[in-house]
This record gives sequence, structure tokens and C-alpha cells, in this order.
Amino acid sequence: MDHSSVLKSYQFYSKFYIFGLNPGRSVAVKQMELKDGHRVLEIGIGTGMSLSHYPEDVEITGIDLTPEMLEQAHQRVDNLGLNNVQLHLMDAQKLDFPDHSFDKSIAMFVASVMPDPVAMIKEMKRVTRHGGHIYILNHFSQKGSFMSLIEKGLSPFAHQLGFEPLFYLDEFLDKTGMKEAQDIPIQPFGYWRLLCFKNK
Ligand SMILES: C[S@@+](CC[C@H](N)C(=O)[O-])C[C@H]1O[C@@H](n2cnc3c(N)ncnc32)[C@H](O)[C@@H]1O
Repeated sequence: MDHSSVLKSYQFYSKFYIFGLNPGRSVAVKQMELKDGHRVLEIGIGTGMSLSHYPEDVEITGIDLTPEMLEQAHQRVDNLGLNNVQLHLMDAQKLDFPDHSFDKSIAMFVASVMPDPVAMIKEMKRVTRHGGHIYILNHFSQKGSFMSLIEKGLSPFAHQLGFEPLFYLDEFLDKTGMKEAQDIPIQPFGYWRLLCFKNK
């Protein structure tokens, strides 16, 4: 993946972004166990489909690279009448926030879209306070599975699709230093997984 393919794909998807039925978002936000006043960073917030799941007494900061996706998120904030959400156009691989700014940070369906997911995790670790938590919700490929054969076939079209279909869990954990992460399969199929990692 590269930035221009991401921008092109999500400028297009923003017009009819319907990846809304995935149960992972509500599972992820429940798992975050948010308390009054928590500062939450959501990376690649897209059209803001997660926003209705957050409690109103937490501070949400959402960032995204694609202006057209963020525009939809702004509209959603207005429609839902939320006053606890700030949105910024920003690259997850180079966050414009001071160290330890957030209690929790989360990226939903973003890791396999990012040109450099390792850089994204590094930045999430930097801006999340020590003892805070990092959450990654994504599809992950399992070596030897039937699904991974399909993902392998689709992988050459990643730039057109706007995400990398072949995205191995063990390689991601290894490269990002997140081997100790709790790994929660999202039902019914467990194809998407929620990784929860305590920032040291
Ligand atoms: C599949 S969408 C997921 C959107 C949202 N998280 C959701 O649950 O619907 C991926 C999003 O990641 C954003 N994105 C991709 N690369 C990014 C980067 N380097 N920095 C910030 N956002 C990025 C895209 O613009 C897009 O909105």
C-alpha cells in the first residue's frame, strides 16, 4: 500500500462506505472499559462508524488521512449532536500529538490499509500513556487456511482494493513487538480479531 492508493481508494469508498454491519466495533469499545474523562485516540476513524458506540463522557480524538472520509465523520458528529469529539486530518504514521497524550488508542480496520503498520503502532505506543492500552481490530490471515488462498489471489490487487488482503497475524505481532497482546476473535467467524496490548 502507499498513500496515493489509500487516498484514491477511500475518496471513492467515502461515497458509499457501508462496512457498517461488522460487530467488531461494539465489541472493541466494550473491551476498552472506558471511564469518565478517558482520553481516546481513534486512528483512521473513517466516516465515524464507531462514534455511536462510545460513552458520552469520554474525550474522543479521531484522525484520518482521507479528507472525504473525515468529512463524513464531521457530518456524523453533527447528526449525532456529539460535543466530545475532535477530528483531525493526519497521517497515523506521523502523529502530531505529544507523547503520552491518550489513555487508550484504537485502530479499527486500518492496520492492513496502512503503508507501514509498524510505524503506526510505534506512534500509537508513543502517544498512549504508560499503562494505557492499544487496541487493533482487523482481519488477520491464518497460514494454511482456505481463506489465505483467496487472500493470496487478491493480494496483487491491494492497491486497487485499498487494503492488503494477505495480512498474517503472527508476522504483525512479531514486527510490532505485540506478541503479548490479548487476541480476541470477533464472532461469528473469528475472521476479524481484536488485539489488546498494555503500553509499557
Ligand atoms: C477500512 S477504513 C476503516 C474506517 C473506520 N475505522 C471504520 O471502522 O469504518 C480505513 C481508513 O483508514 C484510513 N487511513 C489509511 N491510511 C491512513 C494513514 N496513514 N493515516 C490515517 N488514516 C489512514 C483511510 O483513509 C480509511 O478511512
